[in-house]
Amino acid sequence: MPNTIVLGSQWGDEGKGKIVDGLAANADVVVRFQGGANAGHTVVVEGKKYVLHLIPSGILSKTAVNIIGNGCVVDVIELAAELEYVAKEGLEVTPQRLRVSGGAHMVTPFHRLFDQMLGAHIGTTGRGIGPAYRDKARRVGVRLESLVDDTWRDKVKTLGEEYRHLARCVYDQEFPPVEEIIAQMEPAVAVVKEFVGDTQAELFEALQAGKSILFEGAQGTLLDIDHGTYPFVTSSSTTIGGAYTGSGVFVDFDHRIAVVKAYTTRVGNGPFPTELTDEMGALLQKKGHEFGATTGRPRRCGWLDLPLLARSAMANGFNEIALTKLDCLSGIDPIKVAVGRTPSGEIEYVELPGWSENIESVQKVGDLPEACKDYVQFIEDQLGIPVRWVSVGPDRAQTMTREIP
Ligand code: GDP
Ligand code: IMO
Ligand code: MG
Repeated sequence: MPNTIVLGSQWGDEGKGKIVDGLAANADVVVRFQGGANAGHTVVVEGKKYVLHLIPSGILSKTAVNIIGNGCVVDVIELAAELEYVAKEGLEVTPQRLRVSGGAHMVTPFHRLFDQMLGAHIGTTGRGIGPAYRDKARRVGVRLESLVDDTWRDKVKTLGEEYRHLARCVYDQEFPPVEEIIAQMEPAVAVVKEFVGDTQAELFEALQAGKSILFEGAQGTLLDIDHGTYPFVTSSSTTIGGAYTGSGVFVDFDHRIAVVKAYTTRVGNGPFPTELTDEMGALLQKKGHEFGATTGRPRRCGWLDLPLLARSAMANGFNEIALTKLDCLSGIDPIKVAVGRTPSGEIEYVELPGWSENIESVQKVGDLPEACKDYVQFIEDQLGIPVRWVSVGPDRAQTMTREIP
């Protein structure tokens, strides 16, 4: 059975959740391997909207087993709340359908507070992601396996005392007492511990059995800790390498899918060469409803940047593209696309003709306006990667497959 990885090719929010949901119908296992509740993946099914942060988008497929891998950082309070949310939405989430790696690291309220205190210059989501990965790297992190052997309280206590000390002595801030935080975590821990297991072995077994595995990336390649626009990045490996370290198995991916938004967006601070700070940027933001699914912050908008996408492909070995939000470009004419940089660093654009038609209800790629088809073809030709899916709206039904000759 084919194995697939879906990755963000830009700065996140490309529509990964939607693409994963579409593919999950044919997957036995869906795996998140990095990041945490900084992600916000929106899936719309028959007009009903679901926003997921930690639970893989495969939960909507009703049959796939979903795994939160060891490379993720898990806020147990957040996960318990998300479990409640999906249950309320009528989705069945049992410990058979959702597995959480004991090797994943815990995000505690102390990590959140620390992130909120210090993350402003990056414009983080304030979800405690950076501090949790920091503790993983300095080998004082609390892994989820400690929920099962019941050692988490002592570990959180030691860590919490350190954070309180740091906050007080260096930043002149008072963090809540450790006992208060632990008490806050207790009910969530009781819920989450039922889902914790050895996902590496479970995933390996699924692979051996020839099951079809689908990996769901969070964030995007340009937010990768190594390959992104450092230091304006997240703290995990969002690229294909992260799938291996973050799950503990080798998978020979048949489909390495780049989710590419038809223009570019970015939330938070950092460089954005094709950013539009004029009315065109405002128009894209309005047409694309570009507000973050996690923080509600407005997303910065700009033209598509092909050289950056080529870099992104370099890091991931993409062999297919899922092009999203093409509908949001309707009515914009001409459409600019960055194709290079001059020796002095100026961006080189080409102008492509736009189209005026609303394409939200188009069902076949062949029925798209000519200029729209040309836009898709231009991206494919420039990147040398086939555009296999075209998305023209948020709903599950608004995705078309494109035949590659
Ligand atoms: P993710 O983080 O990559 O999963 O993306 P988000 O869910 O954060 O952001 C993508 C947003 O665009 C969501 O609100 C989706 O419902 C929406 N979306 C996805 N694909 C399309 C599309 O083709 N057209 C339009 N108009 N919206 C889309
Ligand atoms: P999904 O999975 C867009 C951005 C933040 C900030 C930087 C670091 O929905 O595509 P962090 O909280 O991770 O330390 O913040 O990364 N960021 C995202 N931007 N989509 C995301 O996730 C993001 N997750 C983090 O805005 O600039
Ligand atoms: Mg998102």
